[in-house]
Amino acid sequence: MTIEEFIKKIPKTELHLHIEGTFEPELMFEIAKRNNKIINYSSVEELKKAYHFNNLQEFLDIYYEGANVLITEQDFYDLTWAYLTKVYSQNIVHVEIFFDPQTHTDRGIAFETVINGIYKALEDSQQEYGITFKLIMSFLRHLDEASAFKTLEEALPYKDWISGVGLDSSEVGNPPSKFERVFAKALEEGFITVAHAGEEGPAEYIWEALDLLKVTRIDHGNRCLDDENLVQKLVDLQIPLTLCPLSNLELKVVQDLKEHPLPKMMEKNLLVTINSDDPAYFGGYMNENYLETAKALQLSKAEIATLAKNSFTASWLTDQEKEEYILQIQTLLINS
Ligand code: ADE
Ligand code: ZN
Repeated sequence: MTIEEFIKKIPKTELHLHIEGTFEPELMFEIAKRNNKIINYSSVEELKKAYHFNNLQEFLDIYYEGANVLITEQDFYDLTWAYLTKVYSQNIVHVEIFFDPQTHTDRGIAFETVINGIYKALEDSQQEYGITFKLIMSFLRHLDEASAFKTLEEALPYKDWISGVGLDSSEVGNPPSKFERVFAKALEEGFITVAHAGEEGPAEYIWEALDLLKVTRIDHGNRCLDDENLVQKLVDLQIPLTLCPLSNLELKVVQDLKEHPLPKMMEKNLLVTINSDDPAYFGGYMNENYLETAKALQLSKAEIATLAKNSFTASWLTDQEKEEYILQIQTLLINS
């Protein structure tokens, strides 16, 4: 079996995915048309040409603009359904996805419109595709604490639908400490906490995420390698890092996939996982992330299997579910 076949065949889980980042240009134009919204690009091709980013902020500016055409519950349903249909074809069996309510509530869309559309699609895909899921509400860190508190309030009636809270958007200048009190309240309310840290920001932000926000998973975390004590702590506690190789390449966190820190992280026994982040913008969903990474870093099938197993270990599935998937991967590896 080739590496490509092996990647396609193994069950996989995605732990770092922004639903707004799955908005494919074709669907964006379709939804804009039915909502009488104008997109600042004349065609799908023109829009795709704009997808060249020198850093996180250049991407975020386009990403928030794209999300502006989402208005109705059906729009959020269609967005989520398209993603789930795509990953079903890639043998993703479980997803833990982010949604950014403030991107929508700030422009007058009701919280319930957003979550109802996303949640219904997730429920339908569990029914139809057998994909299990968890939902993570992410706060936009460029906005203030009061806005995050208001969003947390709005989420409380949906506590049964939302497993965790996260922190995303413009990292540098918006440290985790800015949201210490919001996360304390979220923990009190029973949410699991995660945060983007060490994507562009320093190792210090990863410390803050651990110490102040009490996160049990770090999104990205690339910069942890700058601090030996931090690496030791992440290894000792087996805190998962949700890496996103194609995202890192497109946002110039790494200049070449061959320079990606993943092998070094594996060597140090960090619990690293592969994810797609914003696949509509970064040129690949899960299988493409696995394959491009494996090719660039010359990963073996055993290493790919380890990464896929790590993702189940790092997920919020039950221990029994984790064991079953890990065994399936091991069996496929042995027979490959
Ligand atoms: N929002 C969507 N993708 C993101 C990323 N890679 N980093 C921070 N915020 C994001
Ligand atoms: Zn992300």
